[in-house]
Amino acid sequence: MPPKPLDYESINENVKRSQYAVRGELYLRASELQKEGKKIIFTNVGNPHALGQKPLSFPRQVVALCQAPFLLDDPNVGLLFPADAIAKAKHYLSMTGGGLGAYSDSRGIPGVRKEVAEFIQRRDGYPSDPELIYLTDGASKGVMQILQTIIGGQGDGILVPVPQYPLYSATIALLGGSLVPYYLEETANWGLDVNELRQSVNQARYKGITVKAMVIINPGNPTGQCLSEANLREVLQFCFEENLVLLGDEVYQQNIYQDERPFVSAKKVLMDIGPPISKEVQLISFHTVSKGYWGECGQRGGYFEMTNISPETVDQIYKVASISLSPNVPAQIFMGLMVNPPKPGDISYDQFVRESKGILESLRRRARIMTDGFNSCRNVVCNFTEEAAKQAGKVPDVFYCLKLLEATGISTVPGSGFGQKEGVFHLRTTILPAEEDMPAIMDSFKKFNDEFMEQYEDHRGYSRM
Ligand SMILES: Cc1ncc(COP(=O)(O)O)c(C=O)c1O
Repeated sequence: MPPKPLDYESINENVKRSQYAVRGELYLRASELQKEGKKIIFTNVGNPHALGQKPLSFPRQVVALCQAPFLLDDPNVGLLFPADAIAKAKHYLSMTGGGLGAYSDSRGIPGVRKEVAEFIQRRDGYPSDPELIYLTDGASKGVMQILQTIIGGQGDGILVPVPQYPLYSATIALLGGSLVPYYLEETANWGLDVNELRQSVNQARYKGITVKAMVIINPGNPTGQCLSEANLREVLQFCFEENLVLLGDEVYQQNIYQDERPFVSAKKVLMDIGPPISKEVQLISFHTVSKGYWGECGQRGGYFEMTNISPETVDQIYKVASISLSPNVPAQIFMGLMVNPPKPGDISYDQFVRESKGILESLRRRARIMTDGFNSCRNVVCNFTEEAAKQAGKVPDVFYCLKLLEATGISTVPGSGFGQKEGVFHLRTTILPAEEDMPAIMDSFKKFNDEFMEQYEDHRGYSRM
């Protein structure tokens, strides 16, 4: 009997090739341990609400009313919902053709796209066209649609930072394209070196690959850095010289923990540069409701904005979006609310500011606790043997992370899942566990790490966390 079409031997090789580390071996083992009754702290995926972050009240009130519009006819609605939430729910319902249960335009609700354009314009100080903004099911779906539009086969290369968020490597593999890595410089705060970029492009060209796009993740995941304006200028100049479309993953733009390095969007820097670059360099920028103080990952809301993309291509991307009929409609309303939150003077303004500030300040404190915690650990830049890992048939960082999981229940992602320089090992964790749990988590991490180092260090390997 020949293998059936969906037997493992027969399925698309690109599917087998694509790896998704944040839900990989470590995550699967953590899920098993959880089933066995062990308490697991999932820091592998940035999933804030799963770790106790409370949703902001105002957007939930608005979407609740949109989901149950009959409540708007209830005489007691004003007792349960503030008047501005009621008004906002009516505002968004009036934009839909049949409420939340109806498909919307494949590009998203026009009124919400207009609100996104206004947000971008306020943020950057440059015009933004709603016709060039598409709403998506999370930023991931947008990234996939754009990569699908760019990649035709193995000869099409995409420059991707290393370490990177595995959405990129996995999607490029799935689409049969070529990932062209460029290394971020850890010793320069994970900065981006244009010479390194040039080398990567030249090497790829030598192999017959046409490098078509460059991905930046700004602020970075897993590296957390925020690119400076000067660095972004260099990147845009490079894209101009090398004829690359820049894919700006800016989903962490609210997660800024160092005042001295604010977030600046690629769109703003592109416009600041002026012509010819501002009129020539193609840019797609992505954003989401999943991150920052919203953290609404489960809602799956996102958008992308296209700059300097021809109308013919915009139409083709529309066609790709149309295949899925419509982005999630409730998530589109979350996006509208994120880019157009309560304003000073609105009834819900004070509560909204109190809640969002509370989350952001707590995230800042958690970033500090974690940084200090790791820095207080022995061998944070550490030496440990690769021998034991080899014997266990594991890459050293996978070995370390598995031991950490078994000993403490802390579920992280080994750096090898994001890519890293050879001979250097990392682990990646989020800062999302509840603030009150953080000191105990760091204590148990430190205890584990010290014992691990005691057992395995022999000054031959080199690792950094
Ligand atoms: C860098 C980066 N881009 C995109 C995403 C995907 O986010 P979304 O939930 O909007 O699909 C994530 C999620 O963690 C991310 O870290």
